[in-house]
Amino acid sequence: MREVWVLGAASNRFGKMAETAREAATRVSWEAIHQAGIDPKAIGHTFVANCFGVADHQAHLGPLINQGLGIPEVPSVTLESACSSSSAALHEAFVHVAGGFADAALVVGVERLSTIDTLQATSYFAIAADYPFETKNGATFPGLYATLASAYRAAFRTTPEMFGAIAVKNHANAARNPHAHFQKEITMETYLASPVIASPLRLYDCCPFSDGAAAVVVAAKESVRSPVTEPLVVRASARAGAVTDMHDRTDLLGLPSTRRAAELAFRQAHLTPREIDFAEVHDCFTIAEALALEDLGFYPKGTAAQASLDGATARDGTLPVNPSGGLKAKGHPIGATGAAQVVEIFEQVNGLARGREVPRTGTALAHNVGATGGSCSVHIFGRR
Ligand SMILES: CC(C)(COP(=O)(O)OP(=O)(O)OC[C@H]1O[C@@H](n2cnc3c(N)ncnc32)[C@H](O)[C@@H]1OP(=O)(O)O)[C@@H](O)C(=O)NCCC(=O)NCCS
Repeated sequence: MREVWVLGAASNRFGKMAETAREAATRVSWEAIHQAGIDPKAIGHTFVANCFGVADHQAHLGPLINQGLGIPEVPSVTLESACSSSSAALHEAFVHVAGGFADAALVVGVERLSTIDTLQATSYFAIAADYPFETKNGATFPGLYATLASAYRAAFRTTPEMFGAIAVKNHANAARNPHAHFQKEITMETYLASPVIASPLRLYDCCPFSDGAAAVVVAAKESVRSPVTEPLVVRASARAGAVTDMHDRTDLLGLPSTRRAAELAFRQAHLTPREIDFAEVHDCFTIAEALALEDLGFYPKGTAAQASLDGATARDGTLPVNPSGGLKAKGHPIGATGAAQVVEIFEQVNGLARGREVPRTGTALAHNVGATGGSCSVHIFGRR
């Protein structure tokens, strides 16, 4: 396998986009290519992540994006893996470049759902669960993650403040991130007073519905003469799956796909969790951040929420987690989320994360989950 580098990564501000998905995806792709310092014609393949093009009246985005970039002859494909779509796209780009099928590839994720209301968006997202068994019986993502939160709270006798600490931290980080949907801090009091969405989850336990676009340019090390940025070396690109339905699981205290993808990724990278300097993890709900930190091997079962309350995952803690603000506060435009995690890591490494810097940037991990864990990606990045 050839060594693969991330040469450029760009994102717009998440929230409500005036542009169409196609326009936003093309613009962030230009920005990432420009940042990478390569000619668009060097791109050998484009991987587009988009789940609900139907809400924006545009499917088959790849050729349109390539057309806008002046490379209509380049092959493209659109990938859907629910909330992990653009990390799945990154994995495919990695495989193509590492395997020698392309010297450089573009990954771009985009979602635009602000054209529909919360009820409709909730119904759209819910079809990423098992439709006949879960969705048709009324399950929604806040409801499904509330089930995981209830199981965790009962097993480990946690307090609401432990989850509030995750929300407060991620909002504080997002307040320093110009790409974030919510650029406002919240207090523990605000968290505790916020309305219940799906018990025990409150408003500030939930990610919002966001529009957004993010792009990443990867290239084979051997094809890069003199990089104009500090590249991220892709030390691991791993994907795993697991049983989708909650009722068919034997354990609700973690996500098996995260455990499998993490095991593969750490093996590929020849690293252990203790050697990771900071992480962007999938915190669609605060319970998801706690589960991720335990399944990834950073904390023993039942202890991650307490670690957040102790400040261990803050930017100046022992393991900074979600310095971008995470899905919780930076936002969660599902097709763009995985690529946006890489944007944050790229900005941290390249000194572009002003005001929210983490102290050490030698190794970083990105963790992105599809739905309630039917699919999962773990990427580990290092420096030259
Ligand atoms: C939590 C949720 C139900 C709130 O939706 P809503 O009640 O329609 O909220 P609105 O859009 O009317 O916004 C009301 C206010 O709350 C804020 N808000 C909305 N969602 C928020 C969130 N998740 N976190 C913080 N603030 C939020 C809005 O900015 C708005 O603030 P304002 O009054 O100051 O302008 C919705 O964001 C949601 O379902 N989130 C989960 C999305 C999801 O399931 N994603 C997939 C994950 S796997």
